[in-house]
Amino acid sequence: MTKKKYLVTSALIYANGSMHIGHLLEYIQTDIFVRFLRLTGEDVIYVCADDMHGTPIQVNAEKQGITPKEFALKFHQEHKEDFSRFLISFDVYSHTDTPENKKFTDLFFEELNKKGYIYEKEIPVMYCPKCRRYLPDRFVKGICPKCGAPDQYGDVCEKCGATYDIFELKEPRCVICGEKPEKRESKHFFFKLSAFTDDLNKWLNENKGLQPEIVNYVKGWIKKGLKDWCISRDAPYFGFPVPNTENKFFYVWFDAPIGYISSTEKFCKDKGLDALKDYWKNDRCEIIHFIGKDIVYFHFLFWPAMLMGAEFNLPKSIIVHGYVTVGKEKMSKSRGTLIKAKEFAEKFNPELLRFYYASLLSRKLNDVDFTEEEFKHVINSELVGNVANFCYRVLSFLNKNLASTIGKFSENHRVITECKKEFNKIKEHYQNLNFRDAVKHILKVASLGNAYFQKEEPWKVIKEDVCKAHEVVSICANIVKNLSILLQPILPRFSSALEKQLNLSGLRWSDLGFNLKDHVINKAEIILRKV
Ligand code: MSP
Ligand code: ZN
Repeated sequence: MTKKKYLVTSALIYANGSMHIGHLLEYIQTDIFVRFLRLTGEDVIYVCADDMHGTPIQVNAEKQGITPKEFALKFHQEHKEDFSRFLISFDVYSHTDTPENKKFTDLFFEELNKKGYIYEKEIPVMYCPKCRRYLPDRFVKGICPKCGAPDQYGDVCEKCGATYDIFELKEPRCVICGEKPEKRESKHFFFKLSAFTDDLNKWLNENKGLQPEIVNYVKGWIKKGLKDWCISRDAPYFGFPVPNTENKFFYVWFDAPIGYISSTEKFCKDKGLDALKDYWKNDRCEIIHFIGKDIVYFHFLFWPAMLMGAEFNLPKSIIVHGYVTVGKEKMSKSRGTLIKAKEFAEKFNPELLRFYYASLLSRKLNDVDFTEEEFKHVINSELVGNVANFCYRVLSFLNKNLASTIGKFSENHRVITECKKEFNKIKEHYQNLNFRDAVKHILKVASLGNAYFQKEEPWKVIKEDVCKAHEVVSICANIVKNLSILLQPILPRFSSALEKQLNLSGLRWSDLGFNLKDHVINKAEIILRKV
C-alpha cells in the first residue's frame, strides 16, 4: 500500500486588495498545521493561489485604466511578499488565471454537462442603465431578505450567512453609481445543486473530519431545500469564457475552488507526479481545506457537489475558523482598525503574530481578538519572559562557564520525566488543531526548565561542584533543544536560530528527548526581545 499523503489548502485570497492581519489568521493556522505534519515526517503539500477573477477586479482595473489581469497580478505579487514575511510555507502558490485552471474549469463543466448536471435558463438579471452594464451580485447592495440587515450584497448576507437571489434583495442599488438597477432577461448556465441533496447529506453525516456545529448549520440549509446555482455571468467580466457561447463567462466561484486542483498540477509539474492520480483521485490522499466562516456555503455545498458530479475525491476535513476582530469589533478601514500585513511587519517581528494567534486558536469557531496591549502581554510575559530568556540563560551559561559543552547526566531526574509527559500531549493538541493548548503545554515545559534551573542554582553550585552544575545545565540545554522542536511549527525562524546556537540542524519531532550529551554548542545570542 502506498504511503498516506496530505493535501492542505487555505482559501484563495482575492487579488483585489492588500492583505490584512485578519486574512493572516487563516494562513498562519494552516501553516502551523502543515509545518507540524512535515516535522512529524508526513508527506504533505500546502497548496494555495490568488483568486483573480470577478467583477470587483474588472471594475477596479477599468478605473485605473489597466487590464484586469495586470491589476490582479500586482496584488498577486504583493500577496506573495506578505506571505513570505509571515513565513507561510506554501509548496506552490499560483493564481486562478492560468492555462491549468482554464483546462480544469472546462473539464469540470464538460463532465458536469455530460452527466446532465448543467442546464440553460433564461433569467432576469440586474442591469444598470446609467453604467450600461449587467450588475453581478456584488455590485448590487440592499437589505438582506432573510434578516433585514442593511447594506448587504446581492448574493450573500455577511450578517446572517444566508445566500439568496439578487431579486430578493430589498431596495437594491448599483454599487458603482447608486442608481436603481433595472431587470433584464439573459440566458445563463445552472448547476443542478439540488440533485446532490442526498449525497451531500450523506457526506455530512459520515464525515467525522467536519466540525459538528458547522455540519448542523449546513444541514439546516439543506433542509430548507437547495437551489440550483447560476455559474455564468455576462460580459464585461474577468474570467474564463464558457465554451461555445458569446459573452458568457464562468462565475468566479466556479473556477476559484478548481484553483486548488490546478495549483496542485503546477506543483506536480517536473516532479513526476500527477495532480489527479497522486492527489485528487488518490484514495490514500487526505484533502484538508482551511476556510473562514463566511465561505462555508461554497465549501460545504457547491464545491463538494462539483467534486461528486465530476467524480473527484471529497475533502476529508474542512476546518472553519472565526474572524479576527480588533477590540472585539470587525476590522474597519474607516475606524482605522484595519491593520495591513505589511504595516504589522514593519512595526513588529512578524513571527510574533504567529505565536499570538497560536495562543488563541482552537478547533472552535470563535473569533480571535487582536489588541496591541494583549499582543504585547502575550509576547513579553509568555514567549520572551518564559521561553526565550530561559534559552539564552542556559546556553550563555554553557558558553561562559562550561566550555560550551553539554555534558553527561543521568536520566532519572524528575524534571526529565515531567517534560517527557508533555510531549505527547503537545503532539495531540497540534494534531487536533488545538494550538492554544499546544502553546500552554510548551510553556509548561519552559516553566519546568526555569523552575529547575532556579532551584538548582548552578551559578552557585559551580563554585563547589562543577560536575553537579554541569549536569543541571546539560539537562536544561536538552530542554532548550526540545523547545526548539516543539515550537518549530509556530516559530520556525526562532527555532532555526536556536538550532544554530545548539550546533544542530534538521531537528525532527522524533528528536525529542534527553539524549544530547557530549556536544559542543555555538555562541548563544538573544533571539527575541520584549516588544
Ligand atoms: N476568494 C475567496 C475564497 C475562494 S476559495 C476557493 C475569498 N477571498 S478573501 O480574500 O475574501 O478571503 C480569504 C480568506 O480570508 C477567507 O477564508 C476569509 O474567511 C478569510 N478572512 C478574511 N477576513 C478575515 C478576518 N477578518 N478574519 C479571519 N479571516 C478572514 O473569500
Ligand atoms: Zn450604475
